[in-house]
Amino acid sequence: MTKNLFIFGTRPEAIKMAPLIKAFQKYPELFDVKICVTAQHREMLDQVLNFFEITADYDLDLMRPDQNLYTLTANIITGMKPVLEAFQPDYVFVHGDTTTTMAGSIASFYSGAKVCHVEAGLRTHNKWSPFPEEINRQITGRICDYHFAPTKTSKQNLLQENIKEDTILVTGNTVIDALHHSVERVIHEPSTLIQGISKTLGNKEVVLVTGHRRENHGDGFIRICEALKEIAIGNKNRIIVYPVHLNPKVQEPVNRILANIENVLLIEPMAYQDFIWMMNRSKIIITDSGGVQEEAPSLGKPVLVMRDTTERPEAVEAGTVVLVGTNKDVIVNETLDLLNNTKRFENMSKLHNPYGDGKACERIVDFITKLEGKRKNTKNIV
Ligand code: UD1
Ligand code: UDP
Repeated sequence: MTKNLFIFGTRPEAIKMAPLIKAFQKYPELFDVKICVTAQHREMLDQVLNFFEITADYDLDLMRPDQNLYTLTANIITGMKPVLEAFQPDYVFVHGDTTTTMAGSIASFYSGAKVCHVEAGLRTHNKWSPFPEEINRQITGRICDYHFAPTKTSKQNLLQENIKEDTILVTGNTVIDALHHSVERVIHEPSTLIQGISKTLGNKEVVLVTGHRRENHGDGFIRICEALKEIAIGNKNRIIVYPVHLNPKVQEPVNRILANIENVLLIEPMAYQDFIWMMNRSKIIITDSGGVQEEAPSLGKPVLVMRDTTERPEAVEAGTVVLVGTNKDVIVNETLDLLNNTKRFENMSKLHNPYGDGKACERIVDFITKLEGKRKNTKNIV
């Protein structure tokens, strides 16, 4: 029996790891699956665990209000030690680019386990953007034994860093597996919250907004909020829906600048299933989120990305995503153009899926199964 440990801590990691955990759990005769959440996020993580009905075997419960990177990193590494010693995994799976990913992979390396990186190889090659995620990914890539790259471009990035080709598998992004798993259920069984929001929206056009990136904290967020305010005031026939990330550095400017504007609906972070419904209901999406950039093209929704760089160039190349940065005038002008220019809107709304076909998890399970087969055969021969 192969022992697999899954380590994650934030909302997007949970969404993207959930279908992979389920895929391994289908083979209890082959895999002993255990889950360790660092709980770098708390409420936003628990929302996802509830939806996917996943129970953590180990919960480090690390989130603190307005936490900083130094203590979080240290606490994850020391918190992982007893978990790794107790379970002694053969393989540890980490995901993406958060502090949990980076610190979890370091701790797993210390334990001697084989470390597997899901969503490997994304790069901007700019260490300050996204901060600290670009460096988290590079460190994790250096440590990991196996690299599950979502696209050919991400594989290429790894090859350029001299990662051995036979340790890389192009899988597609597991976010699409999660979306496939959820979308029908969500659209046809809207929650009570969604039924209420749906009434408030009536048949108005919706601009959906999310944002949280550290490099946008401070002036960047102020400019973003000023832009949204101008768009809202000039477009009373449209509604901006903004589920606000719980980071106090986001909450403060958003609530100060955007509260009490009649057609701006500021709400708490939505449960994943509600958020999918909301994306589907919206006309366009303005975001700095990585995951939303990957999901929206599958739903045919144009995205304006409030960042100067992206490690997800595929949808930009396909024309469904445009980088607009955090300049107020650029955000306002690009949003209004996209809302009013039917031809541009239609060109950007094409259903397109550069990030996967919903079979990423199957490919990863298959890869590990074959690897284990080979390892066991070699053992027998020896
Ligand atoms: C983190 C990740 C980022 C990822 C994002 C997804 C790092 C450095 N950052 O950023 O890569 O894109 O999550 O959302 O790993 N908070 C709550 N409840 C929650 C979650 C957060 O109250 O459920 C508040 C807390 O005050 C917490 C703060 O948000 O201290 C910041 O959380 P943190 O995980 O450090 O940073 P994020 O901005 O969420
Ligand atoms: N999401 C959610 N509720 C929300 C906003 C986003 O469930 O209110 C989901 C979204 O569908 C996507 C993920 O959270 O899968 C993105 O998370 P986030 O933007 O926090 O992080 P990033 O992807 O930028 O790392």
